[in-house]
Amino acid sequence: MIALRTDREIDRIRESCRVVGLAHRALRGLIRPGVKTAELDRVAEEVVRSCGATPAFKGYHGYPATACISVNEQVVHGIPGDRELREGDLVSIDIGAKLGGYYGDQALTTAVGEVSPEAQRLMRVTRESLFKGIEASRAGQRLAGICGGIQRWVEARGVSVVRQFVGHGIGRRLHEEPPVPNYLPLDRNPRLRRGMVLAIEPMVNLGKPDVVVAGDGWTASTADGLPSAHFEHVVAIMDGDARILTMTEEEIVDGK
Ligand code: MF3
Ligand code: CO
Repeated sequence: MIALRTDREIDRIRESCRVVGLAHRALRGLIRPGVKTAELDRVAEEVVRSCGATPAFKGYHGYPATACISVNEQVVHGIPGDRELREGDLVSIDIGAKLGGYYGDQALTTAVGEVSPEAQRLMRVTRESLFKGIEASRAGQRLAGICGGIQRWVEARGVSVVRQFVGHGIGRRLHEEPPVPNYLPLDRNPRLRRGMVLAIEPMVNLGKPDVVVAGDGWTASTADGLPSAHFEHVVAIMDGDARILTMTEEEIVDGK
């Protein structure tokens, strides 16, 4: 069953997404060579809690932190710790928050200082693919339009979409129906309806799509060791274009 949210509920989810965006904004100002990923996580938790919200990932299936911080070849679910960021790193940060019973969730990949042209292109293609998915998020169309739109954009540019992890419905729980893969074919291909709220989150690898999970049970890295990027927005299906409930990168960076 895919929940259809009222406009009031969509506003509540947007509030939770705003908290997540504020945490991303705080971290953006701290990302530089020498900062430890655990320091970033501590600030993310402070921001979330100062908004009266709760970190959504902490305790989720035993996940130990507020943010997932995945560096370079790490794809998703990197656990913050003593690792220091270095010039040239690609850092993917994913944060979730729960406020007033509704969840928000957003991921962004950022360059630490100067990164290679391939890494820059990987980030750009991943971000663009997310917006291809958002453009296909229209009532009356089917889910496959989103998934296929992302996959086509990515693969036409010679990079690859991760299969092991997918986007999801979101609202009263962090992960709701339907799964939102970044590839086809789908097991189920529901028609999109007004009020559906989806977390669309392409994970794109510079090399092969294969991912391996580390002994910590969480950190997923590319099997070939090449870098990966991750961008995630939460969108509500409306009458025309989808409404993006998460902050735009401009809002995060410019502090509006
Ligand atoms: N954005 C990811 C997701 O929605 C992050 C989940 S991390 C976890 O699936 F720790 F909560 F699992
Ligand atoms: Co998500």
